[in-house]
Amino acid sequence: MTQIKLLASILSCNFLRLEEEIKDIQNAGCDMLHLDIMDGHFVPNITIGPDIVKQIHSATNLKLDVHLMVDNPTFWVDKFVQAGTYSITVHQEADCHLNRLINSIKEKNIRAFVSINPATSPILLEYILEYVDGVLVMSVNPGFGGQTFIENSIRKVEYLSKCRYTKNLEFIIQVDGGLNLDNIKSLIDAGANEIIVGSALFKGIKSNFVQKFKELARIVV
Ligand code: DX5
Ligand code: ZN
Repeated sequence: MTQIKLLASILSCNFLRLEEEIKDIQNAGCDMLHLDIMDGHFVPNITIGPDIVKQIHSATNLKLDVHLMVDNPTFWVDKFVQAGTYSITVHQEADCHLNRLINSIKEKNIRAFVSINPATSPILLEYILEYVDGVLVMSVNPGFGGQTFIENSIRKVEYLSKCRYTKNLEFIIQVDGGLNLDNIKSLIDAGANEIIVGSALFKGIKSNFVQKFKELARIVV
């Protein structure tokens, strides 16, 4: 099984000093950034598009994990592939032709992940699990950073971890939303491999980044 990783979600960073904050996080030992793409339709917020992702890609060696919280993700996939992403996550709720969409991402040699919102059952993923590189369990309602972790997400991770074992698959389980020093351990114990952290990392004093990342990373190793 893959090594457990801590991904930094830049949603809660200071966008006026994005480049410095990315460098800080890289110096702290992070190797993958989580980029939240919101369109104001699928979620009630708007963030960044492929042009900004391309600029981030040219400014850092960090792998870019793009989380598409958009309607009609098929329209956007190629644009984010060209921007230089390592991984693309699409929502189960956003496309009724998930099999085709996931395959189209994999054809580009990009990691293809499927995500489920808090009210979506992981049982709905049964016929896509064998095709994906990973599943992203949303542990808050997507759209904003700094929300409270939804406890029953742990049961979803346990369920997916069991499916992975019984079906002899190797997909990664990511968790995103409300994660911090108090709950990361229980998700790892449940079977999560990639932990996405936003406000627990970026909120507060800038000079604490390295220390905060290391404190969180200590739990995942
Ligand atoms: C929420 C985003 C998350 C968010 C996590 O819609 O998908 O990636 O940035 O932020 P925290 O860790 O603050 O919940
Ligand atoms: Zn996200």
